[in-house]
Amino acid sequence: MRKFRGAAALILVAGLLAGAAPAPAASLASAAADQKAFQDNFRSRFPAVPFADFANGPYSVNAPMRKQWEEIMQFPPYDFALDEGKTEFAKPFANGKTYADCFPNGGIGIRQDFPYFDGKTGEVVTLDLAINRCRQANGEKPLKYQTGMMASLTAYMAETSRGKPFDIKIPDDPRALAAYEAGKKYFYTRRGQLNFACASCHVGAAGQRMRGDILAPALGILAAFPIYRSDWGSMGTIDRRFTSCSAQMRSTPLPPQDPAYRNLEYFLSYMSNGVPISGPGTRP
Ligand code: HEC
Repeated sequence: MRKFRGAAALILVAGLLAGAAPAPAASLASAAADQKAFQDNFRSRFPAVPFADFANGPYSVNAPMRKQWEEIMQFPPYDFALDEGKTEFAKPFANGKTYADCFPNGGIGIRQDFPYFDGKTGEVVTLDLAINRCRQANGEKPLKYQTGMMASLTAYMAETSRGKPFDIKIPDDPRALAAYEAGKKYFYTRRGQLNFACASCHVGAAGQRMRGDILAPALGILAAFPIYRSDWGSMGTIDRRFTSCSAQMRSTPLPPQDPAYRNLEYFLSYMSNGVPISGPGTRP
């Protein structure tokens, strides 16, 4: 028994040492291979779903819900946000500049390129973060991240990109790969009192029912953001959704735009390359 325990302890120590050793260097090729395996898994599990339709979250995999959606879409509940976002986008800041001055192509039709890895600052920049940095660079206060005007602005910007496929790049920079790997790890790590990973619900159980919801497949899961949800009664950004899902997992949500959430968004968006932007979206 003693001997056995000693051996077990040794294995444990060896395991810990192995864990502490630097992980094998990830490469651009391994990220591309991850993407292919990720997409193939959803294609083979949902052979009847056209690839581009993964932009529609739960509706892509559930016919009755899709029917309900088509009815809701006669009067899309995000329309007010779109109008508000369009007006705000055009409104000059106090210094006379506008949002358009901060973005490539004046901010029109660029949602599919976010988030991107910024080689200058060495971090992932989401559209929401870029909006607030634009405001601050022009002497305006940052917006709150989860709902309200941030959701309206991103709704408008997403709408100008509808149909454009996600085109997330991982530049040949070890920091960009590290950000990608951190996002991937976050997605697959079990946490919280329920010991679920994001992947448990959105890969393993994708398409299954959880209470009143159909679990959205992780492929294309951010394409429709921001979304209007009836149970929220308002619009919500990606931060709002990440925070809600952290709470579903009974784990403590991170602050909006925490680097870990940005890396997660980077990973999920890169996995979804090729799926068209469909936002803003609406969920029953
Ligand atoms: C216990 C199951 C569960 C876990 C774990 C979970 N979610 Fe969710 N998630 C849901 C439910 C339920 C919804 C609402 C129904 C839907 O759209 O999937 C949802 C919705 C989403 C959506 C919006 C999908 C859409 O089309 O509206 C995103 C994005 C998302 N989750 C991301 C995550 C991320 C990232 C994690 C890990 C931090 C995570 N989820 C963990 C249950 C879960």
